[in-house]
Amino acid sequence: MSELVNIKINGKDYEVPAGINLIDAAESVGVHIPNLCYLKGMKGIGACRMCFVEVDGKTMTACIMRTKKGMVIDTESERVKDLRRFVVDMLISMHPLDCMTCTKAGRCSLQKYAYDCGIKETTYNKKSFNFPVDEANPFIKRDPDYCVLCGRCVRVCKEQGTAVLDFAGRGVGSKVSTAGDKPLQDGGCTFCGSCVDACPVNALVEADRWRRGREWEFTQTNSVCMSCGCACEVGVSTFKGDIVKVRAGAEKGKAEAYICALGRYGHDSLRSDLRVLEPLKKVNGKLEPTTWDDALNILASRIRETNSGVITTAGITNEDALTLKALVQKANIANLATTVGIYGDEASLIGGQVDIDSADLIVLVGLYPDQWMRFLPALDAIIRKKVDRKAKLVVINNKASKLSSIADIAIEGDEAEVLKAIAKAMADGGVGPHEGMDLSGANVTENDEKVDKLFKEAANPMIITAPKFYEAAQNIAFIKGSVVAMPMEANAKGVLLMGLKDSGKSYKEMTAAGAVSTIYAIGGLPLNVRPNVEFLAVQSAYMTAIAAEADLVLPVCAPLECGGSIVDYLGRLREKTAAVEQPGEAKTNMEVFIALAKALGVDIETPSRQDVEKLAAVTFNPTIKPFNGREGIEVPGFDMFISMNSCIVNGSRLAWLVENMKNIQVA
Ligand code: SF4
Ligand code: SF4
Ligand code: SF4
Ligand code: FES
Repeated sequence: MSELVNIKINGKDYEVPAGINLIDAAESVGVHIPNLCYLKGMKGIGACRMCFVEVDGKTMTACIMRTKKGMVIDTESERVKDLRRFVVDMLISMHPLDCMTCTKAGRCSLQKYAYDCGIKETTYNKKSFNFPVDEANPFIKRDPDYCVLCGRCVRVCKEQGTAVLDFAGRGVGSKVSTAGDKPLQDGGCTFCGSCVDACPVNALVEADRWRRGREWEFTQTNSVCMSCGCACEVGVSTFKGDIVKVRAGAEKGKAEAYICALGRYGHDSLRSDLRVLEPLKKVNGKLEPTTWDDALNILASRIRETNSGVITTAGITNEDALTLKALVQKANIANLATTVGIYGDEASLIGGQVDIDSADLIVLVGLYPDQWMRFLPALDAIIRKKVDRKAKLVVINNKASKLSSIADIAIEGDEAEVLKAIAKAMADGGVGPHEGMDLSGANVTENDEKVDKLFKEAANPMIITAPKFYEAAQNIAFIKGSVVAMPMEANAKGVLLMGLKDSGKSYKEMTAAGAVSTIYAIGGLPLNVRPNVEFLAVQSAYMTAIAAEADLVLPVCAPLECGGSIVDYLGRLREKTAAVEQPGEAKTNMEVFIALAKALGVDIETPSRQDVEKLAAVTFNPTIKPFNGREGIEVPGFDMFISMNSCIVNGSRLAWLVENMKNIQVA
């Protein structure tokens, strides 16, 4: 906790942290200082001159000025108000004043500040530029005529490493543009929409927002994107029961405030014809609608009478996992596999809770996050933001990755061996304890010594590793810092913590070797062809490739249609709140498990919140392990994400990306 100082704002005494900028300090005590170019989490640049305040009688820009003991700040003096009025007056002289139909009305900073200043018309000559509008993509509409040149979009895009936007020209008539003023898709844009979230006016807006409800009519829900292991927080705006837009939901200013195009625009798929909204069974080779009772009875008799197995993804909630565990146990189903088994297990994935925001050294091991390929894209963006905010980065991989190019130190080689050499460098440098660690054969290089130095200098070093190297990385964390293993699915850690563990035949044995005669598959498994089984039941929100080949399809809600909790990659228990209602006859996964148990003649209970909290809080006491990569688990290829999310992509405007942007992959 930083030192607290006493300051006065508008005549009232407050205690605030020392050395923070005046906008954040005032906000923390409920006083808003108007600002346009400031972005929480980033250094103030003093560009827009909107944030003028008086400090000890002198006018200062609040985004640059930092709190000091005894400061007297006035945010509403006549001098400050005049300056603010002048800035707003100038801005609206170059702005289309069409607030009555403008999409951003109600969430536009310029509109708010003009209203607060009482300005209806500019006192200057009105100027319009008639810049061309970029609407050549289905994601983002870019209309430079509305731009107030605050530069937020430029900064946010640069900070996360995409750097698509920049200023073109100087002074009046300059604008924000892409290199060569090309449409976004030709400028390397990933359509993450971070710039849309940052834009204070109508210059950057979701392409389909026009006349789909006003900002103040929306219901806001915070939830979780379940499409990959990053489990990003999303803010969902709904109007008349339909999702209108999705934005990054993490607290403003946090490096985690990012979502990729899949999280932002994948919601189109909820209304697509790829949805399954009623139970289906195969009749004469064709899937035909049936009742829930019939579907559940068919599946129950297959489970009772044949050698059956359950396979689930970790895209389910903790509550679903607990209910499924009870179903498998009570109904004596011998075989259970989760997709987590492809890339991890309890020993390689579960650790304590870690805080990425306070990390000042990040060591990335055996992972290749990539915003452009959309492989754990949020992790890539978060790490780049952390580096921009002065955290150090070490990348240890067996081949170069995109992030290697921005790392302080990038080491190529066998990851476990490199970790051992780093531990040895630490031991040689007198940093320990190393009792029980076998460091024999470690070959310490100059780079390992440099990493040792970075560890020494860091207050909060954090290792983010592929599960395969978790135990080796944990050895380093015994000496200093924390470690977290990155799962590939949103609730992999929760599924393991709830005790839904593989038993009987493995995922591979069931899907590839035909080891069972009935498979009950839950979620979008990474399979494009039907496994070799007599009977296949698929429980899914979408008509996936294997659902289309199934004998029975059970419709369930998509993640934004049902609630529950997950444990994310940082070990936090998080709420996944429903933003819209369950459609058609779709049930939640948990409802299906309970109904199936009934059809099987067994009783299972709905898990309580306490059950989930208790299991999510289970801690493991790691011990020193040999510096080895764990056998049998690997970070899956990009194909796994494509196939798990194929219906979200094909049922949404993301399909346009696949068609039009061969250089950008869509998970
Ligand atoms: S959508 Fe993302 S990548 Fe594209 S310009 Fe905006 S911030 Fe940059
Ligand atoms: S497009 Fe929006 S965020 Fe970017 S400079 Fe213009 S007003 Fe600011
Ligand atoms: S990075 Fe992953 S979790 Fe985050 S929005 Fe994209 S797909 Fe969803
Ligand atoms: S917010 Fe301070 S100058 Fe723009």
